[in-house]
Amino acid sequence: MYGTKNISGHIHYVGVNDRSKAKFENLWTLPNGVSYNSYLIADEKVALLDTVDICYVEQFMRKIDSVLQGRSIDYLIVNHMEPDHSSSIRILQQRYPEMKIVGNQRTFGMLQGFYGVIDNLYEVKDGDMLDLGYHKLQFVMTPMVHWPEVMMSYDTTDKVLFSADAFGCFGALHGAIIDRDMEIERYWSEMYRYYANIVGKYGSPVQKALQKLADYEIRTICSLHGPVWSEHLAKAVDLYDRMSRYEGEEGVVIAYGTMYGNTEEMAEAIASSLANHGVKRIIMHNLAKSDISEVLGDVFRYKGLIVGCPTYSNELFPEVKSLMDKIQTRELKNRYFAYFGSFAWASASVKHLSAIAEKMNWEVVADPADMKQGYSQPIEDLCSEIGRQMALRLADKAE
Ligand code: FEO
Repeated sequence: MYGTKNISGHIHYVGVNDRSKAKFENLWTLPNGVSYNSYLIADEKVALLDTVDICYVEQFMRKIDSVLQGRSIDYLIVNHMEPDHSSSIRILQQRYPEMKIVGNQRTFGMLQGFYGVIDNLYEVKDGDMLDLGYHKLQFVMTPMVHWPEVMMSYDTTDKVLFSADAFGCFGALHGAIIDRDMEIERYWSEMYRYYANIVGKYGSPVQKALQKLADYEIRTICSLHGPVWSEHLAKAVDLYDRMSRYEGEEGVVIAYGTMYGNTEEMAEAIASSLANHGVKRIIMHNLAKSDISEVLGDVFRYKGLIVGCPTYSNELFPEVKSLMDKIQTRELKNRYFAYFGSFAWASASVKHLSAIAEKMNWEVVADPADMKQGYSQPIEDLCSEIGRQMALRLADKAE
């Protein structure tokens, strides 16, 4: 059937694409859709690894049928309970009443809580094995690689890792399933965006999981979103490793709020100075217009962060406040930071930005520029200095 694919041995892809949903988690835009991946191992025993969003359950069942040709499912392995992967479980259990649901203690608490499912549970612990015949699965507990119940399943025969959300990305699959069969470039920016928005807070658990996985030989990664990683596996792992260490690439994000264009001129002056001092990767986001999921992806990607906005009701401009809240929630570390602000009668935005920088332990590379009312040459000089200092810091030549 269309959209199924043999991955390795008896492992088949039976996931689906969602090009309809506007926002993932009702928060993060999906301009390129998203895939909900599921894998079926039709061995001597049959195991299904995770399900799909219930909106796609009919299509999902047809894919399973096309692979199984009348056979039943012995095990449903639940690596992750977030409803984008678990919401078809109850229907699946009704269809295959003998099927055992494989998970850990935390999985089962959630299964009962979300779906009232309490029967036919098969509990596994870290390192336990499940013999399917040719394929033998080992379970690796990786809590908080997105949710507390998350685990991964490793096929010791063909060295395939079923990695739950890890190494996943936004973006529906366009026909091909495995990375080597597709034009892969479009998925990297979707991986930054997915990581920053969904997994971003959990850098430390991701690092722990990566250290655990270092003991395994892995030839293929079957994530719950995006391509199956084979040819580009090393790059996908490296990208997750760097992001979970909050290690930014060379480049600067200027994220700003502006009401009438005055603060935007400051952002332009800073960008111009950065460019004049040799910085090539400068990404500017007017936060009243830019997609916040894109902004977060860029903030996670690049080492330099410059934020500015007008004072608004003695606070940060609301869109900037919202971004800074999201960044703080994700505990973003290791950034070179600079900031600027403006006010009509009483300054507050730079004080708030300064407090956030201190709380986050970011390295502030330049004095702030704080503008009263309109743009002027002295303000331009301050903004230029911000750009110059950031460029020097990125080039490791801070004065
Ligand atoms: Fe794709 Fe955490 O769910």
